[in-house]
Amino acid sequence: MSGVVAVAEGYTHHMRELPIGIFDSGLGGLTVAGEIMRALPNESIVYFGDTVRCPYGPRSPEEVRSFVLQIGSWLTQRRVKLIVIACNTATAAGLALAQQVFDVPVIGVVEPGARAAVKATLNRRVGVIGTVGTVNSGAYSKAVRALDAGVTVFSVPTPRFVDVVEQGVRLGNGTLEDLLSATSDVYIRPSFYQMARDYLDPLKRSGIDTLVLGCTHFPLLTAPIQQVLGAGVRLISSAEETAHEVADTLAARGHLAEAGDPRSEVFATTGDPDEFLELGARVLGRHVSTAEHVSLAELGSMLTPELRRRQATYEEVGTCD
Ligand code: DGL
Repeated sequence: MSGVVAVAEGYTHHMRELPIGIFDSGLGGLTVAGEIMRALPNESIVYFGDTVRCPYGPRSPEEVRSFVLQIGSWLTQRRVKLIVIACNTATAAGLALAQQVFDVPVIGVVEPGARAAVKATLNRRVGVIGTVGTVNSGAYSKAVRALDAGVTVFSVPTPRFVDVVEQGVRLGNGTLEDLLSATSDVYIRPSFYQMARDYLDPLKRSGIDTLVLGCTHFPLLTAPIQQVLGAGVRLISSAEETAHEVADTLAARGHLAEAGDPRSEVFATTGDPDEFLELGARVLGRHVSTAEHVSLAELGSMLTPELRRRQATYEEVGTCD
């Protein structure tokens, strides 16, 4: 009996010290990673940004699912204790498949964002902005309806906001919000606000009191979006709620790291590691020390015949178990 307990304790102790795996199509998921690190400062993390294949938004759900399987497998080889899909498009396309395939818990960003919006709305009219993939999947509408069938969801794809963030983090030295503020490039500002009004005015007219920023890049546009919508609309980013869900899931399993546990941070990218360090620091708002490069060939090799077979079954019948 005591032997069994010792083994169980040893296992739990070991799991506690394993990192949390977090991934996104690129840099945007660092908004979620930052929130997780703030909420859980004892945890180690491995962050993977698939920068070279960003954006995922316009890709087919099947292709995005194969990326989710590749990166999820890469992370499980790194022995993570939990995976966070810190990308709305990848969550919408691949969360269910990833949960069926991987042995560790997999948490996405859509359900936490939907939950936060349902809690926040008073008039039960909620807007969602995201990529074409996210909006077309209907994932937010389904998640909101599952929580409160009386809430009406108005979804609008805003793909050009992704371009603005991508451009913004590559331009200048300050934060993206500085870029869009009064001192910024005169060429970007007027066209951005015009575009934002074109996207957001219909949502405003539909009487929403809450808007989900259903894309990991959009928290970086909080100030200008708020300015266009006015103070009466509450903006929801799923990052904070996702961090709570990670904490609750780890706590329930007894896998939360504790103060004094060894801590590490690994960043990996399919793109240029130096660029990732520079731009990642701008998104995270602090220095990032090293990033490793992972080739698409290495990622491709993660798709074993067994994983391919399971994805093919999923594509056919919507489940692979
Ligand atoms: N990370 C993606 C998301 O949250 C946005 C960028 C992309 O299209 O890949 O949907």
